[in-house]
Amino acid sequence: MSTIEAIPSPGRKYRKEDLADLDPVLLGALLRERVHHNIEVPLYPVLLRDPLKPIPNFGLQAQLVYDEWVRRGLSQDSPDLKWVKRYIDIAAHIRKGEKPDIPELEDSMPEPFSEGEMKVVRKLIWERCSIRNWTDRPVPDELIEQILEAGRAAPVGCNLDAVRFVVLRTPEEKSMIWSDIPTDNAVIIVLCFDKRISETVGQDKMVPQNLGYDASAAGDHMLLMAHALGLGGVWLSKTVKSEHTEDTGKKFKELYGLPDHIEVALHIAVGWPASGIIKSKRLALSDMIITSV
Ligand SMILES: Cc1cc2nc3c(=O)[nH]c(=O)nc-3n(C[C@H](O)[C@H](O)[C@H](O)COP(=O)(O)O)c2cc1C
Repeated sequence: MSTIEAIPSPGRKYRKEDLADLDPVLLGALLRERVHHNIEVPLYPVLLRDPLKPIPNFGLQAQLVYDEWVRRGLSQDSPDLKWVKRYIDIAAHIRKGEKPDIPELEDSMPEPFSEGEMKVVRKLIWERCSIRNWTDRPVPDELIEQILEAGRAAPVGCNLDAVRFVVLRTPEEKSMIWSDIPTDNAVIIVLCFDKRISETVGQDKMVPQNLGYDASAAGDHMLLMAHALGLGGVWLSKTVKSEHTEDTGKKFKELYGLPDHIEVALHIAVGWPASGIIKSKRLALSDMIITSV
């Protein structure tokens, strides 16, 4: 059976003994990342080969991290670990040249939406708008949870899951966040990311912008869900320090007591709309498409 000694990662190598010292949050992120790049991404072209031939080193980097996870007795109950285990098992088949059983290849084949479903999708995409005035009606926790769940479903670079949420409700909590509009009646969700996760897999060297993009994708999902729930939301920028304003992310982190490795990316405010608004319009599509001449 093939084995490997170490996992190459931009700027460093992880040997077994390095993995033993890794914080479980970072080990979990490395595991998701290795399963993603070492199994999920290369797997689907391999499955199209007929006949399958053994690929002795397929997924071994992910396996090395998974073995350490199991050796330490870390939990395998979370949804991400169930996903990890699925791919770890599939990779074992590929190493032996066996066809793995993956019912999703047929069951989850993307299909065009029906006309009724498309109506809802268009309504959501084109009717979402930024709401900046809210009534004092409280927003139930269940709705905030649905909004957070929508953020959780957003795409994430390298499957790292480095985005973190902080929900602010009270005036004292919300006063930590600078905003160009009054947010007294809104709930504020702060979207942050854990920089250590990106550094662990070398993403900070290769694609440092991805962490901010992850948070943005989550924020957009959340605003769409808020709209569908009849709530109104708006993106609030995190400002950097200038002569006009202070660094809101820095102020929030200090007051909230967040460690250095947690970075604020953006905030969104959601609440019950006090009124509708004149919906903004975009440039004509022809002005947005750049063509070469
Ligand atoms: C990156 C980004 C930053 C934004 N920052 C703010 C902000 O600080 N305050 C605010 O009131 N709206 C903010 N917005 C909301 C935009 O003003 C709004 O999306 C835009 O005017 C288009 O209107 P619509 O959202 O109703 O389609 C931001 C939006 C984005 C994407």
